[in-house]
Amino acid sequence: MTLKKITLAVVTTMALSGSIGFAQSVNNQRLADERDGSNWLAYGRTFSEGHYSPLDEINTNTVGRLQLAWSLDLDVTNSITTPLAVDGVVYLGAGHGIIHAVDGKTGKLLWRYDAKATEFGGTKMRVGWGIKGIAFWDNKVYAGTTDGRLIALNARDGSLAWSVQTVDPANGAVITGAPRAFNGKIVIGFGGGDFSPLRGYVTAYDANDGKQLWRFYVVPGKPQTLDGVASDSVIPMLEDSWSGQWWKYGGGGVVWNAMTYDPEFDRLYIGTGNALPYNAKIRSPDGGDNLFTASVVALDADTGEYVWHYQTTPRDVWDYDSTNDMTLATIRIDGQDRKVMLHAAKNGFIYAIDRTNGKLISAEKLGTVTWAERVDLTTGKPVVAEGARYEDKPAFLYPSFQAVHHWLPQSFSPRTGLLYVPALEMPSEFGAEGVDAENWSPRQLTPQYTGLNIGVGDVPRDAGYSLLKAWDPVAKKIVWEVETPGISNGGSMATGGGLVFQGLADGYFHAYSATDGKDLWSYYAGVAVTGVPITYSVDGKQYVTITSGPLNGATGGFGSVSARWGWDPRVHPRRLLTFELDGTAELPATPPPTPALPLDAPSFVIDEGKAKQGESEYLECVLCHGMGVVAGGGAVDLRASPVVLSMEAFTRVVRDGSLRDRGMPPFPEFTDERLDALRHFFRQKARESLAAGAGTQ
Ligand code: HEC
Repeated sequence: MTLKKITLAVVTTMALSGSIGFAQSVNNQRLADERDGSNWLAYGRTFSEGHYSPLDEINTNTVGRLQLAWSLDLDVTNSITTPLAVDGVVYLGAGHGIIHAVDGKTGKLLWRYDAKATEFGGTKMRVGWGIKGIAFWDNKVYAGTTDGRLIALNARDGSLAWSVQTVDPANGAVITGAPRAFNGKIVIGFGGGDFSPLRGYVTAYDANDGKQLWRFYVVPGKPQTLDGVASDSVIPMLEDSWSGQWWKYGGGGVVWNAMTYDPEFDRLYIGTGNALPYNAKIRSPDGGDNLFTASVVALDADTGEYVWHYQTTPRDVWDYDSTNDMTLATIRIDGQDRKVMLHAAKNGFIYAIDRTNGKLISAEKLGTVTWAERVDLTTGKPVVAEGARYEDKPAFLYPSFQAVHHWLPQSFSPRTGLLYVPALEMPSEFGAEGVDAENWSPRQLTPQYTGLNIGVGDVPRDAGYSLLKAWDPVAKKIVWEVETPGISNGGSMATGGGLVFQGLADGYFHAYSATDGKDLWSYYAGVAVTGVPITYSVDGKQYVTITSGPLNGATGGFGSVSARWGWDPRVHPRRLLTFELDGTAELPATPPPTPALPLDAPSFVIDEGKAKQGESEYLECVLCHGMGVVAGGGAVDLRASPVVLSMEAFTRVVRDGSLRDRGMPPFPEFTDERLDALRHFFRQKARESLAAGAGTQ
């Protein structure tokens, strides 16, 4: 009863406030409604995670008239994220946990809540780049924060309703993924499972008060204790698939991105990450598939009990997470309607999996894949290519650690029956030479924790290229593809207007024809548009919304290949952009691309020995400041930094954390000697770049 009263009060206040619609409570029925396109209530819009809206006012005929309706500049450090639209209000989670409510018609900021993750995050902030999305249930907005809290805010005014710490505050677990809401529950996983010993799990909380309801562990804990495994039935299966002392290193399998609630079966599907460390000789030396890493796992949504799983990459050694979207669809195969899940895993295969029982229906290569020849449809397992496990010598393989399809969402149009997947063509060398598997003592919170031989060298501009691909899951073929620039573009959205939207790293936002990929519309935003688009309507008018801003840590860390656009995190804005037919808003001017210009400081005398030590210390910085000390937008370019020239200023930033709230985490454990070594390394890199002609092209 009390709840009802509160709901009514909200309705009244918001209705009185004028242009903004009133927030009706969001429930399973609304989240399952594929037909009503006026809202975007969840990360993938509806439970099916199709990133599809039936709205069609903006369509193949009218899209030429699509213009800016409004824009809102955001004071956040990461803007690669997916908004929601609920009854005329756009809700956006960005940065490390900063939630906004914005009038969907005018762009007026209604409220802003800052969870202050940089203040509480400690060392976690070294491996977290910001959040990718939020959830909505009843009258509350839910978000994870980088430091590992799940927070619930009252949608009306942004006040905090409750907050729970979902991970150990002292370990390397961070939240970047969006929570999911169903059945009065909020479920959340976490990330960070590449850089420190983590054991993956997902937790369900009561949407009302944050009380924990269930937790499912993805990998086993220490034998004998097997603590926390949700169902006894899975214990033998898990034990048989691990060897050695994996629990010392966590085991991995973190659920850092996709989860899909399936109302037809009342199940939650979770996509699990890589096994940890990547080097299997350290993790599970005597064999084992290492369940349930790199898998999709179906859980009973009410209890968290295991139902079925399908492992896309058994005994993963390539960081081939299975954490990408799991889109629900019903498609006609051999004359039969099949309830499938469409999943383009990081390993390069695109899978159709039968949702009733987890059995594989098809698995095809979506791009160049050399680590496996094919997937055997009878065993459901990949046929791994010879040498691909790099046990004796390094292997040069497709796809790279960056996948064919990574986390930026695919979309599925029930009108065309096609799945639109942002895809990548890029190889990597995988190798563990020089790593002593028996006496392994890695540096946590650095890429060294993978157990591979990872250097910090630059990634050349032509390391790879990207495409938007339209995949027919019935015919199992690519129907069309368009080449997109660089390697880090945005997520896709399909609409009932026959359009597919995607924003690109070069600053353009595009609408393509959903049937043949023809480029029908584009808009130059003056900075990368690598967020995930949504669409909604207010008073019968359709809007399209997306975030823009420099690439962030995860996508901006690839040295020259990320830096080629010249987006500077201190120069170029983070924005929420909204479009409508015949919009008349002017985009505030942005400075032109400004590639970093390494500083010439001839009076700095470089000590080769110190610079060499600095190169090894740089493992702590490379995730944000970029391979080869070439920053791609996630942080400032340290070859161009005057701060590096002064030991005092450098110490203030790096050891004392003077830029903490702007996303530069403090490193209090760094001695003067380590700091000085870093400075020499940065100066050496600056000088090398200048000698190679940087700034003169
Ligand atoms: C999690 C990402 C992240 C990591 C890891 C990181 N930084 Fe930063 N750093 C940043 C960001 C973001 C900024 C820019 C903040 C701003 O806009 O003021 C920055 C700024 C700096 C600056 C200031 C430069 C200037 O010209 O103002 C220095 C120096 C620096 N970082 C050094 C380091 C060193 C050394 C390491 C490793 C020991 C490191 N950073 C690790 C994100 C990171």
